[in-house]
Amino acid sequence: MKIYTTAGEAAKVFCDLKTNGQITDEDTVTLLYDLNIIQERMASLKNTFPADTLHTAAIKANPLVSVLKMVNGWGVGLEAASRGELALAEAAGANRGQIVFDSPAKTQEEILYALKRSIYLNTDSYNEIERVEEFSAYNQITSGVGVRVNPQVGAGTISSTSVAAQVSKFGVPLDESDRLKEYYLKNSFLTGIHLHIGSQGCPLGLLVKGVKKVAAFAEEVNAESESLYGEQRIKTFDLGGGLPVGYYHEKSPVTINDYAELLKKEVPVLFSGKYRLITEFGRYIYANAGTVLSRIEYVKKFKDANIIMNHAGADLFLRKSYNPGDWHHEISLMNKNGSVKAGDFKEPYLIAGPLCFAGDIIERNAILPEAEAGDYLIIHDTGAYNLSAWSRYNSRQIPVVFGYNPLTGSIEVLKRRETLQEIVNFWS
Ligand SMILES: Cc1ncc(COP(=O)(O)O)c(C=O)c1O
Repeated sequence: MKIYTTAGEAAKVFCDLKTNGQITDEDTVTLLYDLNIIQERMASLKNTFPADTLHTAAIKANPLVSVLKMVNGWGVGLEAASRGELALAEAAGANRGQIVFDSPAKTQEEILYALKRSIYLNTDSYNEIERVEEFSAYNQITSGVGVRVNPQVGAGTISSTSVAAQVSKFGVPLDESDRLKEYYLKNSFLTGIHLHIGSQGCPLGLLVKGVKKVAAFAEEVNAESESLYGEQRIKTFDLGGGLPVGYYHEKSPVTINDYAELLKKEVPVLFSGKYRLITEFGRYIYANAGTVLSRIEYVKKFKDANIIMNHAGADLFLRKSYNPGDWHHEISLMNKNGSVKAGDFKEPYLIAGPLCFAGDIIERNAILPEAEAGDYLIIHDTGAYNLSAWSRYNSRQIPVVFGYNPLTGSIEVLKRRETLQEIVNFWS
């Protein structure tokens, strides 16, 4: 299975797009998705987990409706974490049994919306369980309702995306398991359990430790519900997402198979058929499929620095700009004709974006071949949490996005470049 997109492959797609007139000089930034990688990742999920697992792709990682449609067409559901994402899931054609609704701040209207449509939802707090309880009095709940728990197994290496520390804004802390058990036992609509440990930076051992702790709790609840009511209360186990992906091309990342094997060993009950599983991967499905091509407008050479001014900045690399130590992207260089450049330049480059603030930097010490105006940066592994975290600051146009299949040579527009009028409309 392919792990990374090479510079040569991205350069070839760039040449095809230029030859076909599908990009022009106005496309200072272009995003590419290798659709075959996405399809392979989803196939690997299906091959690794039990056949009745509901795999959902986390919309927050990639909300492009054209991609959501493809993903859903390939039999994968969608995880929505806001009312807007629910609308995207529905626009992509996902049916109610294929949508999971998460969010730590669901309004009454949002909860009712999901319940009325039998959309599976994960409550995030006792407060939210109580809201559902109120509605359950006059609305039959036909969909499953889960509870997100925080197994409190600790943070990974990236604090801003770690959500299983002792205190987290997400979920019900498992420390309070007696109280939570009571909620499960008195509310027959609570038939699911959910956890998510973090996104990137969480080693497999930490992910599995969290799952194991939550599974032990589910087993405890079920033992009591069986003795009280003669039936298993928790039937659905939602594992969340969080498989770390590779951003350093010289390294081999962990695989979905490594994760599933460790789960099978440490938490065999999940593979016994007792629970219906849900997964919510995002980064694993998309990150390595995406590549950004961004034109270098100027190379500023000073005594103390060589500064590349390119067109992709903190708008597309929001997390990287604000927490540069936490995130990494490999960067290659090609000339305007699509030839990948080779050779290390003697001094490092500071790669700056086009936005009006000093933190708009995507790399401080990039060792690249000698760069000149008109070259393109090829920024790798940008398929998750880049475009989805787009920042409107300075009102730059959202770039064009293409999907391609390296096996068939096909290329399609997934989203066209935003027009200037659309920017005016946005702020009007
Ligand atoms: C509840 C939930 N599920 C799934 C995901 C997807 O995580 P990842 O993209 O790391 O697989 C996230 C990401 O933050 C999340 O918060």
